[in-house]
Amino acid sequence: MERLQKVLAHDGVASRRQSEKLIMSGRVKVNGSVVTELGTKVGVHDKILVDGVPITTEAPAYVMLYKPRGVISTSNDEKGRKTVVDLVENVSQRVYPVGRLDYDTSGLLLLTNDGELANRLTHPKYEVEKTYVARVTGIPTNDALRELRQGITVDEIKYAPAKAKIISTDEKKKIAIVSLTIHEGKNHQVKKMLNAIGCPVEKLKREEYGFLTLKGLQPGDARNLKPEEVKELRRLTGLA
Ligand code: URA
Repeated sequence: MERLQKVLAHDGVASRRQSEKLIMSGRVKVNGSVVTELGTKVGVHDKILVDGVPITTEAPAYVMLYKPRGVISTSNDEKGRKTVVDLVENVSQRVYPVGRLDYDTSGLLLLTNDGELANRLTHPKYEVEKTYVARVTGIPTNDALRELRQGITVDEIKYAPAKAKIISTDEKKKIAIVSLTIHEGKNHQVKKMLNAIGCPVEKLKREEYGFLTLKGLQPGDARNLKPEEVKELRRLTGLA
C-alpha cells in the first residue's frame, strides 16, 4: 500500500505538492468516495479518479482527432450515442478528451491519458491558443470585432480578449466566415461571443490548437502526436 498523494504523483497526475492540493480540495475519489485526508493508503486494486477521470499506470498516449459533427466529446454517453473515444481505434490505452467540442462542432480535439498535461492544457493560465472558424449569420461590423478584441462580457461572463478577423463575406446571403482565436475554454464560448455581437453561429470548426493543425486529416481521422509535438505541448504548459 502507498500514500495516495505519492501514487498520484508517481502516475504523473501532478507533482506531490499539487497532488496534495487535489486531494484536499475534494477532487480525488477512491472506490467511489471522495477522499480529502492526506496519507490515505491505496493499493493496486483501488479505483482512483481525479475529477472523475481514472488515473492510469499505462504508457502515456497522445492523440489528435478530427472530430466530425454529430459526435459527443465525453468519453461515454448514457444515451449510447457515438463518442470521440469510439473514433480512436488504433490506441490500446484508454484516452480521454482534453476539454470539449460541442456535438455540432467539428475540428481538432486532443485525447490523452496524461492527466497532468490535460489539466494544464485546459487551464486558461497556460494560454494555449485555439483558433475557430465560424460561419455566421450577419456580417460583423468593425465595432463588433473591436468588442471581441477588447474582451466581451456576456450574461455576466467575462471573456478574455480574442483575435478576431473576417475571412470572407457574402453580402447577398448576409453571412460571413469569421476566425476567432481564444485561449479559454468556457462553455459554448465562441457561439456566445459571436451571438453577443448579433452574429449567431451556423457552423463551427476548431482549426488549430496551439501550434497543431488538422493538416492531412479528414473528419473522423485520428493520429498519434509525434514525440516532438508532445514535447512542445509540455513546454507550452510549463512541464518541460
Ligand atoms: N465554442 C463553442 O461555442 N463551441 C465549441 O464546441 C467550442 C468552442
